[in-house]
Amino acid sequence: MIIAIDGPAASGKSTAAIGVAKCLGITYLDTGAMYRAVTFGLIDNNIGFRDSLNIEKFLEKIEIKFSESPSGLLLALNGRDITKEIRSKIVTDNVSEVSALKSVRKSMVLIQRKMGEADDCVLEGRDIGTVVFPNAEFKFFLIADEKARAERRLKDLKNIGEQSSIENVMIDLINRDHKDSTRMHSPLKKSDDAIIIDTSDLEINEVIDKIVNIVNYKGH
Ligand code: DC
Repeated sequence: MIIAIDGPAASGKSTAAIGVAKCLGITYLDTGAMYRAVTFGLIDNNIGFRDSLNIEKFLEKIEIKFSESPSGLLLALNGRDITKEIRSKIVTDNVSEVSALKSVRKSMVLIQRKMGEADDCVLEGRDIGTVVFPNAEFKFFLIADEKARAERRLKDLKNIGEQSSIENVMIDLINRDHKDSTRMHSPLKKSDDAIIIDTSDLEINEVIDKIVNIVNYKGH
């Protein structure tokens, strides 16, 4: 069973997807973290975003591993833990450009399909219901107003010790959504058959319950 949860930045996808996976006892895959890992890897290896040859070489050898820990999900890139680094400002500022690259998308989608096909899985991202798993049994599209999204993102940034203001966070979110929705390859888009959930005024448990109830009602 595949549950696809797509939506714009800070719409509550990650927290909802983690909760749903836990509730149903199935695997969770944060595909945004994978694009962040590639972005971090390219910057760390001084590979320019237009250097297609070296990007291809980097992608050929890439190993992305998720593992669970008491403090949450850990992500390792080629054996190095980069859980914190992928949430940094430099990665966030560049991830839209990197995730727009066709070679990067091709490589990530292959890995995501492999992971999703191995197990019942909740995948969250931007193109899960449209491109990665267009035949997913369950598709959700989470939205939230800009203020709610900016407040959530500011909280995330504070948790990793980065300073910003609500205004700056809001501008960054709007810019990133614009880039993610207007890119040529697999843009952020609601699948026609996805159920929209507006999370602006919902507690996280209410979002999780809504999704789990729909999944249980339809049976799985
Ligand atoms: O969900 P997030 O903010 O961690 O995602 C980071 C970026 O990765 C986002 O700006 C767009 C890209 N992304 C994507 O292109 N496709 C996905 N399935 C998931 C994320």
